[in-house]
Amino acid sequence: MSNKLIDKSFWVIVPAAGSGKRMQISRPKQYLDLAGKYLIDRTLDQLLSHPQISNIALGLTEHDYYWRESCWYEHPNVHVFHGGDERSETVKNGLEFLAQQHQIQHEFIMVHDAARPLISHAEIDALIANDNPIGALLAIPAKDTVKQSISANESPARVLTTLDRQQIWLAQTPQKFVANDLLLALNYASTKNMTITDESSALEMMGKHPDLVVGQPSNFKVTLPFDFIMANALMQYQLSDQRNKKQTKE
Ligand code: CTP
Ligand code: MG
Repeated sequence: MSNKLIDKSFWVIVPAAGSGKRMQISRPKQYLDLAGKYLIDRTLDQLLSHPQISNIALGLTEHDYYWRESCWYEHPNVHVFHGGDERSETVKNGLEFLAQQHQIQHEFIMVHDAARPLISHAEIDALIANDNPIGALLAIPAKDTVKQSISANESPARVLTTLDRQQIWLAQTPQKFVANDLLLALNYASTKNMTITDESSALEMMGKHPDLVVGQPSNFKVTLPFDFIMANALMQYQLSDQRNKKQTKE
């Protein structure tokens, strides 16, 4: 294979400094119990068991009292930095941390939400295998009919038009970019006061076109209480499936 990244190992920035308002519970959602472990621990298990992920830069709030109970607390490959008020600020802090503390600037890095515990190794492999020098992200093609409303502030919302579903993709993480390119793009976006909800949008503002790599619907972001119920059920299913396969081998 000609892709230069195939044998490389990667740092992954994991933003985990959110408070999970939409989950409507007292603790941040990354510290909910997902089949016997913190949700964030499940995410880190998946990332750090991948043979090409060497280190995690983990963005936490300054007074995160839950993290010390994590099974990855003080692990030598998990490096904590302080997150910001917005997700994009957390990622920016992570990139500055990588540049200053670990001289990571010209390499590809990945960014993955702490709140996506069901990421699989096959999806990470597909992202790594992509060779667009601008970068790439996991995303899933829209399967429903997609409507655009007249306004974001109207209730009830009214339909303006139906968008061409064949061109609509729902962005996920991980997203993979050269560390410096992403930092420049995020700095540019903040000078323009644009709301940036993923890394790709910052690159898009610079006129760049990252590749969309087909992901899996199971890699959804735990955002609402319903997502948590789904994530728990899927995680329980995966764990019991793994146990059954192990027993059949023995
Ligand atoms: N995140 C972060 N720093 C922030 C906000 C979010 O590192 N200032 C992280 C979250 O911890 C999460 C990921 O970014 O892992 C995706 O964000 P989101 O799903 O919006 O999480 P929250 O911001 O915690 O949730 P909500 O928007 O419902 O408050
Ligand atoms: Mg948020």
